[in-house]
Amino acid sequence: MTLPNGPALSPLQQRIRTWKFILSPLSAIEERYSEYGDVFRTNTNSLFPFIYFCNPKAIQQIFTADPDIFGLGGSNGVLGHFVGENSLLLLDGDRHRQQRKLLMPPFHGDRMRSYGDLIYKITSDVISQWEIDKPFPIRKSTQEISLKVILGAVFGLNQGERYEKLRLLMSDVLDSMSSPLSSIFLFFRFLQKDWGSWSPWGRFLRKKQELHELTLAEIATAKKEGNHRDDILSLLLEARDETGNPMSDEEIKDELLTMLMAGHETTASALAWALYWIDKIPSVREKLRAELATLPNNSDKVAITKLPYLNAVCQETLRIYPIVTNAFPRVVQKPIEIMGYQLEPGMVAIVSIYLTHHREDIYPEPKQFKPERFLERQFSPYEYLPFGGGSRRCIGSAFALFEMKLVLATILSQYELKLVSNRLIKPVRRGVTMAPPGNMRMVVKQKFRE
Ligand code: HEM
Repeated sequence: MTLPNGPALSPLQQRIRTWKFILSPLSAIEERYSEYGDVFRTNTNSLFPFIYFCNPKAIQQIFTADPDIFGLGGSNGVLGHFVGENSLLLLDGDRHRQQRKLLMPPFHGDRMRSYGDLIYKITSDVISQWEIDKPFPIRKSTQEISLKVILGAVFGLNQGERYEKLRLLMSDVLDSMSSPLSSIFLFFRFLQKDWGSWSPWGRFLRKKQELHELTLAEIATAKKEGNHRDDILSLLLEARDETGNPMSDEEIKDELLTMLMAGHETTASALAWALYWIDKIPSVREKLRAELATLPNNSDKVAITKLPYLNAVCQETLRIYPIVTNAFPRVVQKPIEIMGYQLEPGMVAIVSIYLTHHREDIYPEPKQFKPERFLERQFSPYEYLPFGGGSRRCIGSAFALFEMKLVLATILSQYELKLVSNRLIKPVRRGVTMAPPGNMRMVVKQKFRE
């Protein structure tokens, strides 16, 4: 079958469409979906079109394909603006597999659960700054929590001058490309001009350079101190490849920055959305409070993570507005047929997480926030995929859910939070993710305990 192509576009029409995909990606793909259905292509005039899929059968085929059929082939270049070339986000083939194996364990099992106290303490510290009846931007607070948590996990740091410097720089670098408008710089080469520290791209590059230098300094300090801590930096310092060689400082730095970046922006947005929905829908709030009240001890981390309704609220939060709307692009290396369509090398298969999560046939009333759907049935990994899938599935998925549950339980057991405005809020672009707007404000109405 020939891929649904749509009419040929003039260069101007193509440009307008590209801008729409960048500034308003959700409505852009929804329009294409309603026009063409399960499979469609964008980048129509290019030799290397993007083919979008949102059918679970197609997704299963892509996620379970032989490793030599798809590769990243440099298609994750936008993320390369933040991290160095040795980052897991940019690697392919054997090196990718090896690095994944190395980086997975700290984000699972007992190692992950050992961060429970840290998450609880950081959350309690951050929210203790909230004042009754004084509105504040909620995503800023959730970002402060998730950044502090990941800094603790990665560097083993949770206070002091070096920690504060790293924290502020990391926020600065990400914030400088975070508004819908400034995000445009990430996608157009002609805007990426270094006209000095006063120009947006120049300022971004300088901050990024500073962050990379500070991370290298942190690696040097850890080596000098010969630390034997339980953090990810220590783990990477001790790692050896098959020939017994350690990782270079540059490689370690790129992986540390990857964990920092991938590990907190996403979770911060997910937490802010969860708080939005919990306030927006009173029945959800009441059920959640009733469930939390069944816990004899509010700080029992294991019990919190097993609560079914809290779990369903987190799952639904990541379904309705997935923070990452598409899995990483999979560039075809060898011809493959998917759903009757022939894909040739160079074409790019895009699994649309957002469109899959909004299919009526899987999620009736997909625009409604209904955690109950996760209590009523189980979804396959090709129907529910907020963390992508296959060989590139997010390595931080268990950690992110663990953190979301503990942070939400801590906040809800201490405060009654309300949205300042009751208008419906839509996701906006924040760099390469879709997030609640930075100015979404909440206010503390009641404090349950000091
Ligand atoms: C709610 C939070 C999060 C969401 C929604 C999310 C989502 C995703 C998605 C969709 C992918 C691409 C997967 C694919 O293409 O199949 C990904 C990859 C990745 N994520 Fe996450 N993520 C989250 C939290 C985290 C955390 C806490 C970490 C911390 C380590 C992390 C680290 C990574 C890394 C390193 C990759 C690249 C994996 C690879 O290329 O092999 N993420 N994430």
